[in-house]
Amino acid sequence: MNLAEKKPGYTRSGVSVSKELPIFFIMMRFNIKVALLFIFLIGILTILTLYSFCGNSEKEWSKFYNMNSKTLDVPVSEEIDCDINGEIIIGCRKEGDDVYIPFSFLHRYFEVYGKLATYDGTERFEWTHSYSKVYHPKAKYDPRGVFMYFENYNVEVRERVKCVSAIEGVPVSTQWESQGYYYPTQIAQFGLSHFSKNLTEPEPRRKIIDDCERDFAKWTVPTTAKLERVFDKTLNTKILNFSTSENYMEGVRLKMDHVLYFVMSLDILLTNNSSLCITLQNRETKEIHFLHYITSDIWITSQDNNIYHGIGTVKAWKRITRDLIIDLHKGLAYLDKDKSKPKISRSKMKIIDITLRGLGSIDNLTLSSSEHIQQFYDAAEWFVRHQDIETGGWPIPVKRKLASGFHDLEPGWYSSMGQGHGLSVLSRAYYHSGGDIRYLTAALRGLKPFRVTSSEGGVRATFADKYHWYEEYPTKPASFVLNGFIYSLLGLYDLITIAPPGQAQEAEFLYNEGMISLKSMLTLFDMGSVTSYDLRHFTIGIAPNLARWDYHATHVNQLLLLSTIENEPLFKITAERWIGYMNGKRADHN
Ligand SMILES: *[C@@H]1O[C@H](CO)[C@@H](O)[C@H](O)[C@H]1NC(C)=O
Ligand SMILES: *[C@@H]1O[C@H](CO)[C@@H](O)[C@H](O)[C@H]1NC(C)=O
Ligand SMILES: *[C@@H]1O[C@H](CO)[C@@H](O)[C@H](O)[C@H]1NC(C)=O
Ligand SMILES: *[C@@H]1O[C@H](CO)[C@@H](O)[C@H](O)[C@H]1NC(C)=O
Ligand SMILES: *[C@@H]1O[C@H](CO)[C@@H](O)[C@H](O)[C@H]1NC(C)=O
Repeated sequence: MNLAEKKPGYTRSGVSVSKELPIFFIMMRFNIKVALLFIFLIGILTILTLYSFCGNSEKEWSKFYNMNSKTLDVPVSEEIDCDINGEIIIGCRKEGDDVYIPFSFLHRYFEVYGKLATYDGTERFEWTHSYSKVYHPKAKYDPRGVFMYFENYNVEVRERVKCVSAIEGVPVSTQWESQGYYYPTQIAQFGLSHFSKNLTEPEPRRKIIDDCERDFAKWTVPTTAKLERVFDKTLNTKILNFSTSENYMEGVRLKMDHVLYFVMSLDILLTNNSSLCITLQNRETKEIHFLHYITSDIWITSQDNNIYHGIGTVKAWKRITRDLIIDLHKGLAYLDKDKSKPKISRSKMKIIDITLRGLGSIDNLTLSSSEHIQQFYDAAEWFVRHQDIETGGWPIPVKRKLASGFHDLEPGWYSSMGQGHGLSVLSRAYYHSGGDIRYLTAALRGLKPFRVTSSEGGVRATFADKYHWYEEYPTKPASFVLNGFIYSLLGLYDLITIAPPGQAQEAEFLYNEGMISLKSMLTLFDMGSVTSYDLRHFTIGIAPNLARWDYHATHVNQLLLLSTIENEPLFKITAERWIGYMNGKRADHN
């Protein structure tokens, strides 16, 4: 820890700096605590000295001020009008020859950020040029490991996620259509974040509620109902069969008082109108919520304190993994359209009841602190099930208008980012599953749209008749979105790395072509103080679409990652310059 660096305020706190510094540094070498105490005392002394001047004559004040004129702000200022470019007038302050402009104005005018912060009782103002974060890779990127920095992502929490479908176990997006739809890019990010969390988070803790083998729960069975532990020959395992009366109030119930783990998983088979219901209670407000998992194809609906998630209508065993707090949260957001409700904290909830109704079977009912790998596989399975076998694409079922000047993308379009992210998910699934061929087959098939031009339903565009580019939005005219293109290259790289020898030639070809384009075109995105998100200023001849800071930071993070796998100095040099922009630096002018 470098105190002098963390708290520069101390070196200009109004006390005679030149005398204290050497002592301060000597002491720090021996004992930081003593040094801190020392600084604290100096601070108190300074305040007391200042205080003693209050109320004294003007003369003494100015004497003190002259002593410290370089280091002490004098609170003598007058108001002055400030005329901004002859357009507006704002109130400022004048002190001597200097003029002070309110930060609230600078914030809006220059889009810079600032906040007051307090360290050890000393307040200071912190100015930042951007609000985003750069992640410096610690090692060479490995497709068997964490994807980018996605262990920090919580896709399902996002407001534009309607819910996590209990049919597929993956998020449903409302970004471009409020009804909701499966968005391959988002599903992949969900999968990749859980894969990454599996590698970075603490081991899950689990409580098996009932597995019919070793752990049995004490279910309460009403006289009108039946509960049996039976051996299922086809599955070669014991299962729990239940049947209750048509009266849906009387279910087979398990009373609980569980406050620890809120990720539920189980194997389940439900027939018509059957359901599994989890009752949650808020320990503070005592409010009760019912989470119903029903045989239906609806994603989510809710009424009063009942929240319903459909698990599909196919009568077959399925394994479901549910984050109950996310389900509750999405249910409440569904009810409360203005989204004003505060987030529910895990620590406030408890599970008080599990009820089975209708006719069905369950097994392996478990509560866990997390089930990241299960959730990752839910995403991987989605990519296996929902691929167009012929085209190899994962279609996006909603219309997308990128901007005026571009033709709309009609439902069913493919995205290089969705395809590339899909490859990243499937490659990891192939690796992690120890070579399940279904994942590899789907990944290899997913390469097809990279060869097909945008106008023919693929994702390929060509810049200046020369450079091939994989389009996140395969618009007409081409848009050349940078971040989506780099994500698609990462997907190709993942597949190349993980596929068995000789199976990834196609991916290699596409990757190499893309790399040539990236190296040649990268600096077209450099706007001298920011980057541009795409090349619409070139293809439709309008103002550039400047990347907001989180996209700019994504550009930087992607280049830093690429520079760990590609021997190309341009990536590193460009990333460094773009990091400079985040700190207010600008390219030189003539
Ligand atoms: C990660 O997945 C492995 C199975 O591949 C599992 O044993 C481990 O407990 C998981 N860890 C976390 C943090 O999810
Ligand atoms: C469930 O309902 C469908 C029609 O919705 C019907 O065809 C089927 O026989 C029902 N199954 C059972 C077990 O009741
Ligand atoms: C399911 O419930 C609906 C109404 O709630 C009813 O019309 C239907 O007959 C029920 N089906 C079965 C198989 O119980
Ligand atoms: C258990 O219930 C399932 C339906 O959930 C049924 O298909 C199966 O035959 C039942 N098994 C026994 C032994 O009753
Ligand atoms: C429950 O888990 C055990 C152990 O993983 C597995 O063998 C069994 O098939 C599971 N039950 C069902 C119904 O899938």
